[in-house]
Amino acid sequence: MNTIEQLKRDNAQFLWHPMAHPKAMKAEGARPDIIHRGEGCWVWDIDGHKLLDGVAGLWSCNLGHSCKPVRDAIVAQLDELPFFNTFRGTTHPRAIELSRALVDLMRPDGVAAMMFSNGGSDAVEGALKLARQYHKLRGDKDRFKFIALKQGYHGVHFGGMSVNGNSNFRRAYEPLLPGVFHIDSPWLYRNAYTQDPDELGRIVAAQLEREIVFQGPDTVAAFIAEPIQGAGGVIVPPANFWPLVREVCSRHGVLLIADEVVTGFGRGGAMFGTRLWDVKADLWCLAKGISSGYIPLGATAISDKVAEVFDADATGAGQVSHGYTYSAHPVAAAAALATLQILQAEDVPGHVARVAPAFQQRLRGLEQRSPFVGNVRGKGLMLGIEMVADKATKTPPPKSSDIPARVAKAAYRRGLMVRVSGANLILSPPLVISEAELDLLCGTLEAAFDEVAAGQ
Ligand SMILES: Cc1ncc(COP(=O)(O)O)c(C=O)c1O
Repeated sequence: MNTIEQLKRDNAQFLWHPMAHPKAMKAEGARPDIIHRGEGCWVWDIDGHKLLDGVAGLWSCNLGHSCKPVRDAIVAQLDELPFFNTFRGTTHPRAIELSRALVDLMRPDGVAAMMFSNGGSDAVEGALKLARQYHKLRGDKDRFKFIALKQGYHGVHFGGMSVNGNSNFRRAYEPLLPGVFHIDSPWLYRNAYTQDPDELGRIVAAQLEREIVFQGPDTVAAFIAEPIQGAGGVIVPPANFWPLVREVCSRHGVLLIADEVVTGFGRGGAMFGTRLWDVKADLWCLAKGISSGYIPLGATAISDKVAEVFDADATGAGQVSHGYTYSAHPVAAAAALATLQILQAEDVPGHVARVAPAFQQRLRGLEQRSPFVGNVRGKGLMLGIEMVADKATKTPPPKSSDIPARVAKAAYRRGLMVRVSGANLILSPPLVISEAELDLLCGTLEAAFDEVAAGQ
């Protein structure tokens, strides 16, 4: 058996994949695509098939797959110091430099400090824990509850899983954290209230306020949400939603946690998702694009407001009894420093803001072009295509029709990698993608939709 065949066979035998059934992965024909090489915005599978990367790895490789400065920073760091910890008593130059660089970048947002970790789920966990500790330090000892949005995704640790707004990620692992409550997503396409965006923003923000009041404001630690809900299907909230949420949280002393794991570092066309809505959070969760996905890294950004309470503590209760062996791993920190330098020097968020409107507008045309596209939505270089069985009733496609997977397969054959999430196709190409590559992406996807429609 040659090496390629061996790899294909071994994968299902020995590797349990995230979000997949191990038994189903072993079934004949269930073999995942094995991606083995990347360059710019392109990847190659192990059979030599070349694909435009429409997902940036997984919302991560924002600078593409062959960014030499990031690669060089990693190699130089491996030569200098591959690892040392940042627990009390020790640190290293890259951790210090990166915290400084990130705080400088986020000064306009009111950020005072950074706490590092290994990825998005960690960043969320850190934010939830700091939120509770902040209230304890202030003497608000009953404030332990969290409120979140349905359709939200905040990773897979027990805290993040508990605030997730999709039962797919929760059921198998219940019972989860007590004291977590969910309100509706400000989702224009599917909501029980209105088709007017402003009205919807007001309704859901009022729901948040009612939930806080119902729970007792002195019991609620934080509200957590993504500035644009990503994995839930790229749900862009109405423009008034985040400003109203900020007001509600401030009115009731509830911390606002922005989960920027996807929206951070330019994906929405601004450096941070909260900037799209002109809002300052109290804690931010960062990962993915922070190191362009080259090395795992997460960070929880801490606002002045939160940091001041820890700084003022004289009792010792402000000790952060949280952190990981690999918090601020020097190689990851080096990758992030190089990434930040490029994001700023080349104004990558500005590039996104320039190229995204044409991309969004063109793919919105699929609503007319394709019989089974119900809604196309997005912002910047994140876009969701929701499929339906009936456009008038918005009935989801029956699982048996498998339309999203068929479109994804047709796109793959034509040289484009997209991602299926439930009834949605999700697109999140590298942020450095050129206009010509975006045109190619759109044309390939349109052809894939046409192909599946013709075969119906
Ligand atoms: C908004 C959001 N938060 C948290 C996470 C979890 O990140 P990770 O998979 O790096 O743990 C994700 C992952 O996609 C995410 O989209």
